[in-house]
Amino acid sequence: MANADQVKLLIKSHFNDEQERFYTVALQIAASEARQGHAALANDIMKLIEKGKRERRSNVISFPRDLRALVLTTIPDISYSALVVPQKMRKRISRILHEYRYMDKLKAYGLKHRRKILLIGPPGTGKTMTASILAKELTLPLQTIQVDRLVTKFMGETSAKLRQIFDLIEQECAVYFFDEFDAIGGERSKDNDVGEMRRVLNSFLQFIEQDTSDSLIVAATNNPGLLDQALFRRFDDILYYELPDHSQQKQLISNVLGVFLKKNLNWQIVLAESNGLSHGEIADAVRNAIKEAILAGEKQVDEEKLLIMIEEKKDARKGCSKE
Ligand SMILES: Nc1ncnc2c1ncn2[C@@H]1O[C@H](COP(=O)(O)OP(=O)(O)OP(=O)(O)O)[C@@H](O)[C@H]1O
Ligand SMILES: [Mg+2]
Repeated sequence: MANADQVKLLIKSHFNDEQERFYTVALQIAASEARQGHAALANDIMKLIEKGKRERRSNVISFPRDLRALVLTTIPDISYSALVVPQKMRKRISRILHEYRYMDKLKAYGLKHRRKILLIGPPGTGKTMTASILAKELTLPLQTIQVDRLVTKFMGETSAKLRQIFDLIEQECAVYFFDEFDAIGGERSKDNDVGEMRRVLNSFLQFIEQDTSDSLIVAATNNPGLLDQALFRRFDDILYYELPDHSQQKQLISNVLGVFLKKNLNWQIVLAESNGLSHGEIADAVRNAIKEAILAGEKQVDEEKLLIMIEEKKDARKGCSKE
């Protein structure tokens, strides 16, 4: 049984809203039960603590009213296994997850888990997907900051809004995703007449440097050339996304096809045709081919349907580059 001091501490920390202390005392009780040979009870207590922590983290955050138009909260439900990236990249994503899960162990040595992450790469290669996966795997909400809106709609008060966002980052543990980050991190902003964007960038640099929260801050861009050099060293990790090679294309197409994958599919021709397309475009093309097959009453997708849909994606791309 827990001793009298532990019970008192538990009650006190509950009413003082001292979460960390509450967890620590509960863990001590579990440990002392284990030492006394009450393994099942110790196990039950550990499970309760884990569950409580998880639920607390995934509670949808209530943030200031005027931030609602800028921050979109979602609870992603996306599988890590669906992400197709080179092995090296997967290891680095797993390492972010691992360090987050063992942050207390690192803290004991005065170290911080890597938590300021910059994702760079062409459209449709998995940057947003990665941010969602980090949130899902860590049972945290995903807070997407609408960066373009932040700088256009709130011109003149962007720095003040950023300050509010960083306050939120400090108070509420979540994955904070700054998409289209070059809108604030852009070097070009320096040329701005009013100097407003320069100030915004400086504020961001200052806020991210000062931030010591446990939250993950993930920024994404497909225009790394635009980013101010000073930004790069503020991030703990920079991940570069690329268009899929043949082995990734194959994995992606098989994943998306699932039960619709035909035995003896002519991979050579399908992969050759997919060259130059992003993961997003390929996944879309495959889904379109599946729809065609379903509507035609077929149980599997043949090369012909895949090739037509892949071709369509390529045509769409040509249309974009003409503009
Ligand atoms: N690496 C990947 N593995 C598996 N599916 C992917 C991958 N990248 C993209 N996809 C598919 O494409 C969709 C769009 O990808 P995502 O939004 O992550 O791209 P992005 O890199 O954020 O692009 P953008 O720069 O345009 O924001 C995903 O929802 C997923 O279906
Ligand atoms: Mg994206």
